[in-house]
Amino acid sequence: MSAINYSEKIPNNVNLAEDRTLQRALEQWQPNFINWWDDMGPEGTTDHEVYLRTAVSVDPQGWAQFGHVKMRDYRWGIFLNPGDSERQVHFGDHKGEKAWQDVPGEHRANLRRIIVTQGDTEPASVEQQRHLGLTAPSMYDLRNLFQINVEEGRHLWAMVYLLHKHFGRDGREEAEALLQRNSGDADNPRILGAFNEKTPDWLAFFMFTYFTDRDGKFQLAALTESAFDPLARTTKFMLTEEAHHMFVGESGVSRVIQRTCQVMNELKTDEPAKVRAAGAIDLGTIQRYLNFHYSVTIDLFGADQSSNAATFYSSGLKGRYEEGKRSDDHVLKGQTYKVLEVQNGQLVEKEVPMLNALNEVLRDDFIKDSVAGVERWNKVIDKAGLSHRLKVPHKAFHRQIGALAGIKVSPDGRPVSEAEWAAKEAEWLPTAEDRAFVASLMGRCVEPGQFAHWIAPPAMGINRQPIDFEYVRFG
Ligand SMILES: [Fe+2]
Ligand SMILES: [Fe+2]
Repeated sequence: MSAINYSEKIPNNVNLAEDRTLQRALEQWQPNFINWWDDMGPEGTTDHEVYLRTAVSVDPQGWAQFGHVKMRDYRWGIFLNPGDSERQVHFGDHKGEKAWQDVPGEHRANLRRIIVTQGDTEPASVEQQRHLGLTAPSMYDLRNLFQINVEEGRHLWAMVYLLHKHFGRDGREEAEALLQRNSGDADNPRILGAFNEKTPDWLAFFMFTYFTDRDGKFQLAALTESAFDPLARTTKFMLTEEAHHMFVGESGVSRVIQRTCQVMNELKTDEPAKVRAAGAIDLGTIQRYLNFHYSVTIDLFGADQSSNAATFYSSGLKGRYEEGKRSDDHVLKGQTYKVLEVQNGQLVEKEVPMLNALNEVLRDDFIKDSVAGVERWNKVIDKAGLSHRLKVPHKAFHRQIGALAGIKVSPDGRPVSEAEWAAKEAEWLPTAEDRAFVASLMGRCVEPGQFAHWIAPPAMGINRQPIDFEYVRFG
């Protein structure tokens, strides 16, 4: 692989052309990445030319270049946001020291773990979404799916860059392992639970990109605060791409709701069976999907009390969301935070040391952010003149991780018996029948400008192109 023009093939601002060690590591890894993409990436798309946004630099002109490209030829770049040589650690025990350009030996294992855990989610979501192209509701949506897929691929590259550049041989081994674990694989699954769930249909995809990509936003935002400067700068750039993923989720669910309300008004009915018979997704099913994706996603923040979270913060590896905008001492010793636990069958708040509750702090920030978009969905229903409202469930509902795992709580936050749970579960979480109904609506609808019946067209196209633009050329 001699005489590769690195800045052409791999757009970057990390001086790859002069870094022989990094070149060698990437040359080894890149063919395995392409094999992974061919095997586990979007199914049956080798010859498609997709109207994709490619980042070629971090300045405003360069980070969003549009054009038709084959996805396996996508220029997966490596970008760090511009650095500040005076940057200081601004929280934890190292507060006020100079930010680190290299990995301090004592934090090496924890930093590697953080980077690997983040890196593992990126290819996982590509694997989860690999069949969705076969049932796309429009060419516009198909293109958005592929855009997300290539960007998650680039996020994997971003984490692999850090592993190759800063972690030597064990970093290279971890980078290989990121291609070997697979979502849902019984023997070698992805690290985090939500990334081993299926994303079987487009309603699930929109909920996933609304909620689970938003988990990505909060994890990345917490890492942009890191004392390890290359991690902070890499994740900052990843956040610019994450915004699009959440847009796809929010607008996707919004368009589903819009069509449902239109059908309800045309038929003057709120009966789920009639809405379904007319080929739209009833609001009850949308609510159950919301309940599922929300509860699975808030588990991703980890146990409500965690000594790892305290260590990551105090050692400067991972901050809070918008750490720099907070007005406390940024050390947090002696401060407390409220978490939930069950006492005598009731949910009660308990004050615990804030350092140990930082997963809960981040989860609560996520909850505030995700509720705002659900209110925007409600405006769509409101505008249609209907009184139904969607709602995120209580944070104790359907939890698998932390103190709330193993207890049964209703969506409105009431601890319930096993018997009540069993009787009500079908009202609260998607049933096999709900999923089969949604699956029955999923057909491939990919002529330019055509949209499946169950979803409204978007308000506008991509990059000011018309809605009926040929976003994907099938080869
Ligand atoms: Fe990502
Ligand atoms: Fe994402």
